[in-house]
Amino acid sequence: MSAKTVAIIMDGNGRWAKQRGFKRTHGHKIGAEVAREITTHCAKRGDIKNLILYAFSTENWKRPKSEVDFLMKLLYKYLKEEEQTYVCNNIRFRAIGDLSAFSKKVQKQIKHLETLTQHFTNFTQYLALNYGARDELKRAFEKIEGSIDEQSITKHLDFSGEVDILIRTGGEKRLSNFLLWQSAYAELFFSDTPWPEFGIKEFEKIMESFEKRERRFGGL
Ligand code: IPE
Ligand code: IPE
Ligand code: MG
Repeated sequence: MSAKTVAIIMDGNGRWAKQRGFKRTHGHKIGAEVAREITTHCAKRGDIKNLILYAFSTENWKRPKSEVDFLMKLLYKYLKEEEQTYVCNNIRFRAIGDLSAFSKKVQKQIKHLETLTQHFTNFTQYLALNYGARDELKRAFEKIEGSIDEQSITKHLDFSGEVDILIRTGGEKRLSNFLLWQSAYAELFFSDTPWPEFGIKEFEKIMESFEKRERRFGGL
């Protein structure tokens, strides 16, 4: 039973930095490097189709303006500087979430990267940006014409697949509005490791323990 879709709540950047005497923003900077490392690793594994990374939630706008501004700059820088990472590793890039909240510059770079990588169909990295599962469901409901059933809802979501593995780093045990519909039968993994310290070794341990889990989907 191999994992098709892995979703990660990349949490613990700020606390990790603070505990080491750095500013919270330093944690985000290192966190972006870890995102790259885990993404290229997943692309190379070959059995993972989709990796969905929670980068900015619909609720994260509540943070101090200085942190939000830093995250916006970091996002643009990442999308710009990692172009070669996507292309060299055959990674398709997609963004999910309500992108209309971002600057034109960021939106343009997102579109550019999506188009540039659209022909890589073996592996896709989804970045969840201004993403909230409730907002995604609300937007899906608005788009449905005709009867509402599970299929029509699923079809209109930003991500229409099922999540097999949901990982949250950083010690908290909650979903924080991430992929609520798609994770209905996901296997959950909570790690105390803050995201800047998360690595391939721990990721592989989680994959191993996923293989040992018995998924019943309500049956016997
Ligand atoms: C996750 O790390 C990254 C974002 C939400 C952008 P946090 O910034 O939430 O770090 P902690 O949880 O405060 O340590
Ligand atoms: C979830 O982390 C969002 C991202 C990782 C992008 P938060 O740090 O925002 O979640 P809460 O506030 O602890 O629930
Ligand atoms: Mg957090």
